[in-house]
Amino acid sequence: MEIIASGAEAVIALYGNTIIKTRVNKRYRLKEIDETLRRERTRTEARLISEARRCGVPTPIIKDVTDFEIKMEYIDGDPLKNVITPELSEQTGEIVGKLHSCGLVHGDLTTSNIIFMGGKLFLIDFGLAYIDRTLEARGVDIHVLFQTFESTHEGHEGLIEAFKKGYSRTLPGAEEVIKRVKEIESRGRYA
Ligand SMILES: Nc1ncnc2c1ncn2[C@@H]1O[C@H](COP(=O)(O)OP(=O)(O)O)[C@@H](O)[C@H]1O
Ligand SMILES: [Mg+2]
Repeated sequence: MEIIASGAEAVIALYGNTIIKTRVNKRYRLKEIDETLRRERTRTEARLISEARRCGVPTPIIKDVTDFEIKMEYIDGDPLKNVITPELSEQTGEIVGKLHSCGLVHGDLTTSNIIFMGGKLFLIDFGLAYIDRTLEARGVDIHVLFQTFESTHEGHEGLIEAFKKGYSRTLPGAEEVIKRVKEIESRGRYA
């Protein structure tokens, strides 16, 4: 067993072909509250990963869920941030459009939470995901992704255009969401 990542909320270990995501305790929270929160977040994340997958969005297969732990398939590939091209950005648009059409919002769409494996993109880390069909929720989801494009990648304008193409292919009404993304951007500029 090897620890491959350790964030504020969870520790990620790799054991063979299985990732074990464990929600760690927060000492500043009362024990009972802490355990309730961790149990709920663990359950919700596992449920939404499965729901996305059932709906046709590539995500890791869930193998087991206990109180504070999710065991899931290891996606043995490259984070999108290391391999991004306009073509892969278009593919990202397709899976995000699919996710949104299923009524889900990812909540933390960065190029580290998207993994390229076997010619396909997988979404991971549903720790902040939720069910929401509003333009605002969808718009913010995409806005966050575009911000990671802008901060870490050359030629982000081409990536954004390619994304929109893929997104429009899988989400009916995508134009309305894209309009909202522009509005969210302008809010940010003048805030
Ligand atoms: N199923 C998985 N397959 C491959 N790598 C994973 C998987 N789950 C997590 N990771 C790796 O661990 C990192 C942190 O996991 P993540 O679920 O994003 O936790 P956090 O909520 O702390 O960001 C990811 O960025 C990725 O590198
Ligand atoms: Mg993450």
